[in-house]
Amino acid sequence: MYKKLFIPGPTHVREEILQAQAVPMIGHRSKEYADLQAEVTLKLQEMLYTEQRVYLCTSSSTGMMEASVRQASTKKVLNTVCGAFSKRWHQITAANGVPCDKVEVPMGQAVTPELVDEGLSKGDYDAITVVMNETSTGLMNPVADIAAMVHDKYPDVLILVDAVSCMAGARIEFDAWGLDVCLAGVQKCFALPAGLTVCAVSDRARGRSQQVPNHGYYFSYAQMDKKYEKHQTPATPAISLIQALNVQMDDVLAEGLENRWQRHKDMAAFVQDWARRYFALYSDERYLSHTVTNVENTRGISVAGLNEELGKRGAMISNGYGDLKEKCFRIAHMGDLTLDDLKWLTGEIEDILGL
Ligand SMILES: Cc1ncc(COP(=O)(O)O)c(C=O)c1O
Repeated sequence: MYKKLFIPGPTHVREEILQAQAVPMIGHRSKEYADLQAEVTLKLQEMLYTEQRVYLCTSSSTGMMEASVRQASTKKVLNTVCGAFSKRWHQITAANGVPCDKVEVPMGQAVTPELVDEGLSKGDYDAITVVMNETSTGLMNPVADIAAMVHDKYPDVLILVDAVSCMAGARIEFDAWGLDVCLAGVQKCFALPAGLTVCAVSDRARGRSQQVPNHGYYFSYAQMDKKYEKHQTPATPAISLIQALNVQMDDVLAEGLENRWQRHKDMAAFVQDWARRYFALYSDERYLSHTVTNVENTRGISVAGLNEELGKRGAMISNGYGDLKEKCFRIAHMGDLTLDDLKWLTGEIEDILGL
């Protein structure tokens, strides 16, 4: 039986979107491909409120996380850490030999402008990394406020944002907020199969990249720029996924961006209320995610057992991440899921647990 995915990626993919991949192949140097990339790029720029470049990268998000830190700094990177994925960006930065430090808050807490200010004041940094939506804790960092502080006090510091589990589900004003990199794989709020990453990059970040030696080849902005104006990618892209993304972006824009952000907020509010009623919320109430809720397992239920029962009824949720396994469970409310889907899911959980 198909299990509808209420996990924070990959998410449920609609049949029409699956079918949008099943169209005849085209060459990636053909006019048809260039037209496709030009079209989809404009739609992504509209969604990100940006006029800057948006690259399509054939890899999962981790590839662009690595690429962005390799090209961002001639000094030192400050990684902000508030959970598993923000921690991983610190590990990626170090693993690439890029000088870096981290500032860290306990899991469930947010990275605040004050914390970033304190961190940046202590060293010669020229880039920061921030995970906008920490998928491991279900928390959204105040990226716009952090960016405003950085622009005000540290104008040379690039702002790199992992929006993997919230891009296309929450408002990200790339230009107005003054972000330099903002990336996300398409298997989460875009509700597409995995394998492609969307990455907006500012002119400032592209300029910095040129000053950095040995920043690689496959993900190099300079390589991408050689083809960008021709609406192509330097290497063969995941053409079928880009075809599906183009169809999905029509639906995203037809829904209306404001409506889309509101739908995600409504689903989040519903799941948060449900979690408060029967369990508890793990993360700081002031920064709860619009796309995934981390529910504290205050009743000591078997999360694995619950998921097994849900599987028989056609749904799947996520266990707590890492050390939070069985201590928490996560319900994603992102992509093409609806409030009715969440009402159905929570009803099934209540029935299984006898709540
Ligand atoms: C916030 C965040 N960053 C990065 C990643 C890594 O993405 P991928 O495994 O698709 O490269 C994930 C995956 O869940 C994530 O949630």
